[in-house]
Amino acid sequence: MAAQAPRSLLSQVLRIAARPQPAVRIRPSWQPCSRRCIHATPRRLTARPDHAGGKRANRNNGSFTLLAASGGLLASLFAILPPDSKPTKKKSEAAAAPPEESAQVSSVIDNRDPSLPRFRLADVKKHDASSPEPWVTSGDKVYNITEWIPAHPGGEVILRAAGSSIDPYWDIFTIHKTQYVRDILETYLVGFIDVADLDEHGQPRRESIEDPFAQDPARDPRLLTLTQKPRNAEPPGQELARDFLTPNELFYVRNHMWVPVVDEEEKAGTSAFALTIELPDGETKKYSMRDLRERFPHHRVTAVMQCSGNRRSDMTRAVGATNGLQWGAGAISNAEWEGVRLSDVLADAGFKTADQYAAASTAVTPIDSTSQTSNDDQVPDPKNMHVHLAGMEAYSASIPLSTAIDPRGDVLLAWGMNGKVLPRDHGYPLRAVVPGHVAARSVKWLNRIAVADEESSSQWQKRDYKCFGPNEGAKPNWDKYPAMQELPVTSAVTSVRVGRDAEKEASTTTLELEKLNGERAPPGVKCPRAWAKEHVQPEELAHAPPVSLAGYAYSGGGHRVVRVDVSTDGGRTWDQARLLDSGEGEGEGDGQGQKIYGNKAWSWRRWQYAGRLPASKEGECAEVVVKATDDAYNGQPETQASVYNARGNLATAWHRVKVCPRCVGREEWVTGDVFGSGFKKEEPRKDEGKK
Ligand code: MTE
Repeated sequence: MAAQAPRSLLSQVLRIAARPQPAVRIRPSWQPCSRRCIHATPRRLTARPDHAGGKRANRNNGSFTLLAASGGLLASLFAILPPDSKPTKKKSEAAAAPPEESAQVSSVIDNRDPSLPRFRLADVKKHDASSPEPWVTSGDKVYNITEWIPAHPGGEVILRAAGSSIDPYWDIFTIHKTQYVRDILETYLVGFIDVADLDEHGQPRRESIEDPFAQDPARDPRLLTLTQKPRNAEPPGQELARDFLTPNELFYVRNHMWVPVVDEEEKAGTSAFALTIELPDGETKKYSMRDLRERFPHHRVTAVMQCSGNRRSDMTRAVGATNGLQWGAGAISNAEWEGVRLSDVLADAGFKTADQYAAASTAVTPIDSTSQTSNDDQVPDPKNMHVHLAGMEAYSASIPLSTAIDPRGDVLLAWGMNGKVLPRDHGYPLRAVVPGHVAARSVKWLNRIAVADEESSSQWQKRDYKCFGPNEGAKPNWDKYPAMQELPVTSAVTSVRVGRDAEKEASTTTLELEKLNGERAPPGVKCPRAWAKEHVQPEELAHAPPVSLAGYAYSGGGHRVVRVDVSTDGGRTWDQARLLDSGEGEGEGDGQGQKIYGNKAWSWRRWQYAGRLPASKEGECAEVVVKATDDAYNGQPETQASVYNARGNLATAWHRVKVCPRCVGREEWVTGDVFGSGFKKEEPRKDEGKK
């Protein structure tokens, strides 16, 4: 099916027949809520009729003798209801329990609004996602969200909480934690949880609240955990760039929510899982995993995933507070992905290929007789159109159509990672892989795609992944700058070895270092200064300890890293590191027998350096600095201060690592403390200062 004129395209894409829709849709039907959603006017509040009893009770005044009945801070997506929708205030007669009866079961005296019914949690459970009337609880209150679900773009997400408490979900969607949103939720109140199901504080018992993360997969204990729920973790420094391909179990994990559970039968090819593509005419096409595997050519692409928050902790340490996960240098990993080209699937679904777009943009007549393009069909510019990618939990983002269909762009729908089935944490059964771009666009657990003439309105498109000037502060104008797509050049030190340790490193990394023959300090002598003063001649201490360094360098947009500069004296003098991994396109090796797949340089290049730290009389700390240059001669900024933004994105300044070696014997140094992003936590430097 040929793409249609862009203005009509989006509204058509957004139509889903089965659901009532707001009059004007500006995003795909499944687009989750953005901040804009929660600022919609809650007109229902004023239009709400009284509940069945006819008495307009003040539901916010209900209270327990022993508790505040607030139920904690709520966050809700509820505010985008169409103004004309009616609240649902039906009592479930079967579920309602008279307040007097239930009050006797608990020591808590129930003096909440007596005009509203009480419900046992077992009855709330019956109103789960499969029920025609889904309910949720929040705190000690029960809400009927039936009419809200079809009206809300994130309706499917909230259905996950149906029959249970919504609170753990709103703890994840923290942007909704406002009184304003909570007031809107109150318009759906149908009753209270029966006191028999409440603890002595009048709150639901902890064990009765389902943990959205209960079914997350087990993780490798070597990963450094930033947050457990949702899971965010990075590989430890020495493992980070040890291999060209990061082992799956050590690949960094960046989850905004829970890990969706996909029918295990998928492995036998019989799963109910389907990738839905919304067509311009509002129809949908579905592809099973088997369809994808059997109907399209398979491709492999070796590519880095990098979060825009990589090295954020470095920016925080050097400049000041940043908002976001405080990643070290490990929000980056490299893998070989396997799947089918997004462009092939889009073409099969009826969208134009890159060639057709190119032909159509120059042709006066229709592209070809088989396409449904008419004479008056305007040819949309793929640069102004966007491919929306949505995951099963709620996450979504978009990339320009021109990226999606670029024949050299290697955008994949991937099911394989390093020759294995995509692990659950990384998107099983299907994820987008958008090489050279910020990993936020590589949507995991991908199950919906649509082409539209506006980019995604999700917060992960409109908000989180943008950068600002150092002066633009914590509340920047988010609409002023484009969403991040291709990434700039960066590099990092991931391993530091000094003296004897450097020799050890040499045996595993082919580095050649001089051997040092020094007398050992007696066992137990840790402090070099005291011992050295007594036993070592000053001229001997002036010996510069050997150092071996290793790390990675990477540039977005398919640019190849061509040089890595290293300084061991804080940037006064420089040398060049040895680059591993060719970083070239299809068929080129990494120098160690590993093939690299893809049309451009999507992978990182690891580097090694053998040199000396400055001579140190008493084991003073040295500063190691690294910076990379790509084939377009893009370089890294010298300071984090010059690229500081309160969001802490793209902290790509020269990577500086403080190395405090220890001399355990005459001229015999060992690594000692290593401070910096990805190493030990150091006190904030703040010496760069905010500019
Ligand atoms: N896709 C979904 N569905 N949910 C997510 O939370 N996180 C994004 C992206 N895709 C995310 C997602 C972000 S911000 C990053 S950095 C990468 O996934 C991380 O991919 P990884 O966990 O495989 O390293």
